[in-house]
Amino acid sequence: MARSGAGELANVDKLLITGGTALDGTIDVSGAKNATLPILAATLLASEPVTVSNVPQLKDVATTITLLQSMGVQVTFDEKLNVEVDATAVNNRCAPYELVKTMRASILVLGPLVARFGEADVSLPGGCAIGARPVNLHVQGLQAMGAHVVVENGFIRARADRLQGTHIVFDTVTVTGTENLMMAAVLADGETVLENAAREPEITDLANFLQQMGAKISGAGTSTIRIEGVDSLAGTQYKVLPDRIECGTYLVAAAMTGGRIRLNHAAPENLEAVILKLQEAGALVEYGDDWIALDMQGKRPQAVDIRTSPYPGFPTDMQAQFCAMNAMSSGVGTVTETIFENRFQHVLELQRMGADIQIEGNMAVCRGVEKLTAAPVMATDLRASAGLILAGLAAEGETLVDRIYHVDRGYERIEEKLHQLVAQIKRVPG
Ligand code: UD1
Repeated sequence: MARSGAGELANVDKLLITGGTALDGTIDVSGAKNATLPILAATLLASEPVTVSNVPQLKDVATTITLLQSMGVQVTFDEKLNVEVDATAVNNRCAPYELVKTMRASILVLGPLVARFGEADVSLPGGCAIGARPVNLHVQGLQAMGAHVVVENGFIRARADRLQGTHIVFDTVTVTGTENLMMAAVLADGETVLENAAREPEITDLANFLQQMGAKISGAGTSTIRIEGVDSLAGTQYKVLPDRIECGTYLVAAAMTGGRIRLNHAAPENLEAVILKLQEAGALVEYGDDWIALDMQGKRPQAVDIRTSPYPGFPTDMQAQFCAMNAMSSGVGTVTETIFENRFQHVLELQRMGADIQIEGNMAVCRGVEKLTAAPVMATDLRASAGLILAGLAAEGETLVDRIYHVDRGYERIEEKLHQLVAQIKRVPG
């Protein structure tokens, strides 16, 4: 479970990294966090047990399972975290603040609960470290489908008889918003069309899962998704797609340390924007259907310009890692963040490691320094922590990254995998 209260923060694990070793070796990519969370939420829609495999062992996954269990869902899993979920006996349609505050993606139970049970009380997620992150589009979409939704006492309370298919045009491209309404629509009466939908691979993975349970969906992966509602969904077995952000993070780590790595169980077709930027930085990248390899040939990277945007554009979840890379590259690179308004906290920490980065509005101008220097740094959010770990791997000396519970939310066994790539890293218990 993610820790969050001030008292709990006093004793938290840290990562101690001795930088300067070029990464070398082969690791497996884990299942995608951002596909697993909606897929687990979608199991609420099924009238029969469902088995999900390639589930990564992450704090956010544990939180989702706790949330489902609190609703009366039976969840069993083996040591490889093949998760069997049986949502036939749901007796509580509430997502409490204690869970939602540790993981915003808890909002993903809203659509499934209303669609299957006609009611949901989901705590409002509120702000988070990287920005305001409102959920107005989730709420408006459900209202358009005929749900009665009020926001009171910090909860979104939604009630409906059967949801009605409708035409929704999103004002902004939203990943979990698209997922929530797609899940709501699969059990609605009639056809729902989602326009300006998010096109992330995780949306397609969720749609594939729903289709395997009997949902009728077309167009997932494009900006127009059509869903024809069905009466019920059956059980199935499903394997989650590989995590493109985890994969990209290790590729950048190799690039920053002048290393050479191979990642198996990968899905390189989902990483095009990241691969292009790594090549621009001077990396040799090769890939096949389910593997990807990067060789930096001992060179220092060239700084690159990036601009985050919805898929297939450059992912905001890789922004912090590229800031870290630009910080020690040759030349000047700009990083423009267009999705979240407050996603540069890692920059302040990178500056403590000697980085020369200026923030100008939503752009970070990175003037590469020859060598980053080790320093104690603090992780502020999930991807920021990844950026700091990468900086530590490339820096001279010992970097201590504090508050790594953020990284445990989204990276499976990170120190073990980095060990496998010969990095010098160890977890220091708090
Ligand atoms: C998801 C990912 C997260 C990633 C993000 C952007 C999951 C569990 N999380 O987050 O890792 O960084 O996509 O790729 O998949 N917005 C609104 N109103 C809404 C919803 C969103 O204005 O109702 C805005 C947000 O403030 C933000 C933008 O839309 O500026 C995109 O956010 P969104 O795609 O919804 O992010 P998440 O789904 O929360």
